[in-house]
Amino acid sequence: MKNLIKESVSSLEGYTPGEQPGSKNVIKLNTNENPYPPVPALSDGLSNFDISELRKYPNPVSSKLRNEIADYYNLEVDNVFIGNGSDEILALCTRAFVEDNGSVGYFEPSYSLYPVLTAIRDVEQRPVSLNENFTWVMPENFEASLFYLANPNAPTGMCFDKNQIIEFCGSFPGVVLIDEAYADFASYNCIDLLSKFDNVVICRTFSKSFSLAGIRLGYMLGNEKLISAMIAIKDSYNVNALTQELGYLAFKNIDYMKANVEKIKATRAVLSQELSQLGFEVCKSETNFVWTKSLKVPAKKLYEQLKAKGIFVRYFNDDLIKDYLRITVGTPEEIQRFLEELRVLLKT
Ligand SMILES: Cc1ncc(COP(=O)(O)O)c(C=O)c1O
Repeated sequence: MKNLIKESVSSLEGYTPGEQPGSKNVIKLNTNENPYPPVPALSDGLSNFDISELRKYPNPVSSKLRNEIADYYNLEVDNVFIGNGSDEILALCTRAFVEDNGSVGYFEPSYSLYPVLTAIRDVEQRPVSLNENFTWVMPENFEASLFYLANPNAPTGMCFDKNQIIEFCGSFPGVVLIDEAYADFASYNCIDLLSKFDNVVICRTFSKSFSLAGIRLGYMLGNEKLISAMIAIKDSYNVNALTQELGYLAFKNIDYMKANVEKIKATRAVLSQELSQLGFEVCKSETNFVWTKSLKVPAKKLYEQLKAKGIFVRYFNDDLIKDYLRITVGTPEEIQRFLEELRVLLKT
């Protein structure tokens, strides 16, 4: 059969999502989901939802939620874009801000979807390697059309130095997308940079702090010209009606999310401390996961042994980071079970 597939797609290695085991009888600490359920107001929202409304197409720009988010951040509605998960937003940016002969920059290691999206768009990839301690020195005169800057970074969980980010945004000629998927768990965010730089956009998700990975919802904040470019190229109805309503209710009840974040931060402190005591190297986490390296047992072996016990953590089969495990912060009970199993494995 003649090759019907575009060349750049034939050679593409797609994104590998974390495992979603079928059984409920496992402890899932591998995909940075929130261990707590979303705000109970969503149950009422679902029961009260008039299903005859589903006959109609949803609001094309998610107006109710968009207004709510704009008000919360003291921005204009034109500064807010709503997406079908932040992954959709990240992908749209490669279409809105990158010419066919343009390029996309990102750090390595960082969110492993960035190179995949760049390859799908079939433009030049300009990765910048982080140092051993996961900080950066930009190559001289570094340029690209778009730079994906995850802060806090994933999978390291660490925040970069804010002054370094500010300096970078001021000198970079293209669009800087600050991916703040985990910013609700961090000690600072970059929202204030929006009023300083026209080339900065900030992307957030409902998947982590709001416990809503299943509804696929994210948003982007930025200069109205960049936002209107995103609106011009998106699918006409990119966010479904149920997601719009549930997202709106979750955002209206933002204090519930903030309380869950505090619980997760407390469990994160316990997990980080216990891992250090067990002889692991632990990066300072500003997220809902901990990035850690065993100084005694290979990470892959630990990952496999834990999996055999029904405990899923994330291991990346990638030379740069193969010595590390990424452990999502679960409930205190889940983390205690994880630590108990780990202690047993380390003794055998
Ligand atoms: C840095 C980063 N950005 C974005 C996402 C994706 O978020 P969403 O579920 O909104 O597509 C993730 C998910 O793991 C992530 O780690």
